[in-house]
Parts: sequence; C-alpha cells; structure tokens
Amino acid sequence: MIKIAPSILSADFSALGEACDKMKEWGADYVHLDVMDGSFVNNITFGHGMVKALRKHTSVTFDAHLMVENPVKWVPYYKDAGADIFTFHVEADRHIHRTIQTIKKHEMKAGVALNPATPLCMVEYVLEDCDMVLLMSVNPGAPAQKFIPSTIEKIRRLREMADERGLKLDIEVDGGVNEHTAPHCIAAGANILVAGNAVFSADDPKRMIRILKGEE
Ligand code: DX5
Ligand code: ZN
Repeated sequence: MIKIAPSILSADFSALGEACDKMKEWGADYVHLDVMDGSFVNNITFGHGMVKALRKHTSVTFDAHLMVENPVKWVPYYKDAGADIFTFHVEADRHIHRTIQTIKKHEMKAGVALNPATPLCMVEYVLEDCDMVLLMSVNPGAPAQKFIPSTIEKIRRLREMADERGLKLDIEVDGGVNEHTAPHCIAAGANILVAGNAVFSADDPKRMIRILKGEE
C-alpha cells in the first residue's frame, strides 16, 4: 500500500493551519513537516511550537523530518507537540542507535534520513531498530528541486537489504517526487512518497495524490 506524505514546506506559510485542514479530504496519509534549523541546512522553517499549533488542525499522521543539528535533544518536544514519526539525519548525529532508542522510548516511530551522498551502510546496524528509512532524493533545504536519479538504485538496494532480513521496513523517498518520478520509486521498493511541490502546485491536489499512488 503506497502512502503519500504532502510536505507543507510548499504550502502558504501564512496559512499552514488551513493547509493541514485539507489533508484528510485530499486523501493524504501523512503530513510531512520539514523542520529546518538554519545550521544543518541553509534554511529555517518552523519548530515544535508550530507543530503543536498545527496538531489540532488534523488527525492525519504527523511525519516530522528534522533537518537539524543534534536532533536527539528535540525528541521530547516533538512528542509533546504531537508528532507521530520523528525522522532525524544520520549526518547530524554521533549516536544513531541511542537516538533511535530515545525516540521509541518517547513512543514515536523512529525514522533515519540519509542525504543523497550518504551510503546505506550508515543504517546497516540499525535497520532492525528503526521503523523507517528516509532517502533524500534532493539535497535538503528547499522545495521543488530536481529528483536525483541515483536514488532509484539506492531504493532498490535498501529494499533488498530489508527483504534479506525479512524486515517490514518503510522506505520513504523525499524530494522531487512527481507523476514522472513516483512510479520509478515505487517499482524500486519505496512505499512512502513525500510530495510538496507536486501536490501544492497541482490544480487538483486530491487527484495528484491519487496519481502519485498509481491509482489513476
Ligand atoms: C527538502 C524537504 C523535502 C521537500 C520536498 O529539504 O526535506 O520534504 O519539501 O519537496 P518537493 O516535493 O517539492 O521536492
Ligand atoms: Zn522532508
């Protein structure tokens, strides 16, 4: 079952509550929340305060993507804010296994994110512990970028690694996902697709979500 996670990074920042209000009706499976601290990436978006404010706008799963330094210190804040999934970057954390444990202790699903150049071996010894691996298909920090083609082979290899161990691992692809790239991501083994620009720039976002799922 393919899940679509619209990223509100592409929504009107002066009306993020309204964007979240629409998620259920659009058929979104997750709301993808791109948290950026201006240090790990060259952009600043919003923090746990915004996430807490948005929580009352929708019951759709909150998929927090933390593009921040030292992510573990934020775990309790995002639990309190109502995040369901806490995904952090392995490039920003020296104790990946312990951070995953901390996320799960706070009763959130644990996601680990890899930048385009980061090899899969970084998650080799935590694949059994995490719930999801997020593969960046653009360099993090901005919406509406071009999909990096080498991601397809990375998805395929990661799905192979999970299958070899009999793991039901969620593989989320994030960046440049649209009606052209989505089918290749799905065929390679991804089951969750983040889509910001593709959804928010569509004339009919609800239909675009169905197209990305391969239902149209
Ligand atoms: C980029 C973010 C992505 C981005 C995806 O740093 O992590 O989630 O918002 O946006 P699109 O789908 O527009 O490439
Ligand atoms: Zn993201």
